Amino acid sequence: MSPQNPYLGKLAVLYEDYGDIAPFQQLADQLAVPLRNSVEANFDQHEAFFLCWRDGCLKLLDKELLKKGGMMVEIEPREGEQRSWPAPKDGALAKALGRKTKTVVDATTGWGQDSLHIFRMGYGLLCLERSPVMAALLADGLQRLAQEEWMQRLQLHPPRLLAGNAIDLLATLPEPPDCIYLDPMFPPKRKKSALAKKSMMVLRDLLGDDEDKDALFAAAMQATGKRVVVKCPDYAQPLGGGKPSDSFHGKLLRYDVFLKN
Ligand SMILES: C[S@@+](CC[C@H](N)C(=O)[O-])C[C@H]1O[C@@H](n2cnc3c(N)ncnc32)[C@H](O)[C@@H]1O
Repeated sequence: MSPQNPYLGKLAVLYEDYGDIAPFQQLADQLAVPLRNSVEANFDQHEAFFLCWRDGCLKLLDKELLKKGGMMVEIEPREGEQRSWPAPKDGALAKALGRKTKTVVDATTGWGQDSLHIFRMGYGLLCLERSPVMAALLADGLQRLAQEEWMQRLQLHPPRLLAGNAIDLLATLPEPPDCIYLDPMFPPKRKKSALAKKSMMVLRDLLGDDEDKDALFAAAMQATGKRVVVKCPDYAQPLGGGKPSDSFHGKLLRYDVFLKN
């Protein structure tokens, strides 16, 4: 496996012998991974993960999902989240972001679920993501969000997405945001947690743990205007080795708040 391309041997773009092949080839070139065709013998014997367009969405598949389905950036609110815009700023996440916060940078956007929650609560939001695969899935999700009837009716634009390492990107922000939000991958407590969502387990299998969380935390403390919020499992030590100013607890997780002096 090439150190330059963490996806080589793990991921391919899959063309299911239907529609224009050009965007599939373009995505494969962009990610520097092979393009496989589902009509070829043994097409599924080389890589563990596939990207393809199904049902009008860009989807990530593992071997289990090859026959049916796929994981995509879900633009519908999660259970318990409000549909309206702006949704009320309540719950542990909103408390951690802070009452006076107006602008947020999500430096670890991943599947975009926290970002979309933050966006729906009406904060000004910028999304950062370093994995080119996740960035491609997010770009597709944000494009679908822009087409939603309620977005168009309210003349809203989806949050902006920058693909790249937040440790570098945060240093280039034209203005410090009120809050920088971090949700890096922590090692699981048990090898395979029955409680972990499949989409998160796949993310871990594909990308591994985020070993440079402390450097990201330091970059966020440097770049923020007022605070950094870190989402972590309830068993994890606070990032950066310091003591958070405040912590808000959710189900099996915690939002640690670090205020800038
Ligand atoms: C646990 S996931 C985030 C899940 C996300 N909060 C959600 O609601 O879907 C962590 C993501 O952060 C990204 N990430 C980790 N460190 C990063 C960095 N330094 N810069 C940009 N993205 C980073 C990883 O690639 C991964 O996609």
